[in-house]
Amino acid sequence: EKGGHDYFMLKEIEEQPAGVAETLMGHFDKGRIVLDEQRLADQELRDFDKVFVVACGSSYHAGLLAKYAIEHWTRLPVEVELASEFRYRDPVLDRSTLVVAISQSGETADTLEAVRHAKEQKARVLAICNTNGAQIPRESDAVVYTRTGPEIGVASTKAFLAQITANYLVGLALAQARGTKYPDEVAREFGELEAMPELVERVLETAPQVREIARRFADASTVLFLGRHVGYPVALEGALKLKELAYMHAEGFAAGELKHGPIALIEEGLPVIVVMPSPKGRAVLHSKLLSNIREIQARGARTIVIAEEGDDTVRPFADHLIEIPAAPTLFQPLLSTVPLQIFAAEVAQTRGYDIDKPRNLAKSVTVE
Ligand code: F6R
Repeated sequence: EKGGHDYFMLKEIEEQPAGVAETLMGHFDKGRIVLDEQRLADQELRDFDKVFVVACGSSYHAGLLAKYAIEHWTRLPVEVELASEFRYRDPVLDRSTLVVAISQSGETADTLEAVRHAKEQKARVLAICNTNGAQIPRESDAVVYTRTGPEIGVASTKAFLAQITANYLVGLALAQARGTKYPDEVAREFGELEAMPELVERVLETAPQVREIARRFADASTVLFLGRHVGYPVALEGALKLKELAYMHAEGFAAGELKHGPIALIEEGLPVIVVMPSPKGRAVLHSKLLSNIREIQARGARTIVIAEEGDDTVRPFADHLIEIPAAPTLFQPLLSTVPLQIFAAEVAQTRGYDIDKPRNLAKSVTVE
């Protein structure tokens, strides 16, 4: 049942290409994006003037990524908020607000309460969920299911990639309804998404190298993660995986924030994992991150860099280089997250921990 692995989590990491592919399946028909249980009229989709994304933990990190895509494709303002904070601060919600609630289990109490609060304020709710018929989709106006199969490992892996994929579907559906993307552009983006599972498969081939690097750092007391733009939520997710699985202190930063404080943490031998943007994307992002790596390396950090294949500019600054295939900027997180999952799992196993059942954690958090 663990597919020849010692742990479900390792099997679930390998199931990610299929999870992304299944999540896309059937969502593009006769030249249009279609959602699952869409009880929202086209008119409503067209008339939203604001989007909130609410979620917890890894699902929140997926939500942070939704913002980049939805704002870019639809020109709608998007706020992303931890579900546990959302309803305690009187967020501005009304009939023309779309609230996207992301939950693998569909039973997370914080997220469920955020959904209820949104509905009381007359906002419309779209759930992204991995569990058919769970409470959150039942109480929502529309659902996009992440079809990656049940996730057994407590740490979210394949659900995370599937959530990112589902977010993009929602973004494209909104862009289509609002006319901010032409049908052929929507079709092209969908086509590029459909090409992602094969690329995720190729990233999985880096596993032996990532594990080897992870074992070298299994005794570290802290690991920092840096990214910019869509690489920033990936950095947060990488740090969360390491905390929950390896019980190691880890923190993710927006690389630009380094000089506003965290750079004081850099000392000789400190491992820093850097998620590099594509050199073919926005050049300024790439060059800024390059200078961040240079800075931390000059201060003695051990740099582990995830970069696009053929990006030779990073080589001088990477003590360890993990190469991932080229992908459109917005979709790179589907690739760059995978080595971070493998890294955390390997550090945890080297330290002798049960990666399917980390201490103090439950798969479904049904208390607030
Ligand atoms: C991290 C993890 C948790 C969940 C969070 C939300 O690996 O699994 O942070 O992402 O508890 O759970 P769901 O998505 O079920 O609402």
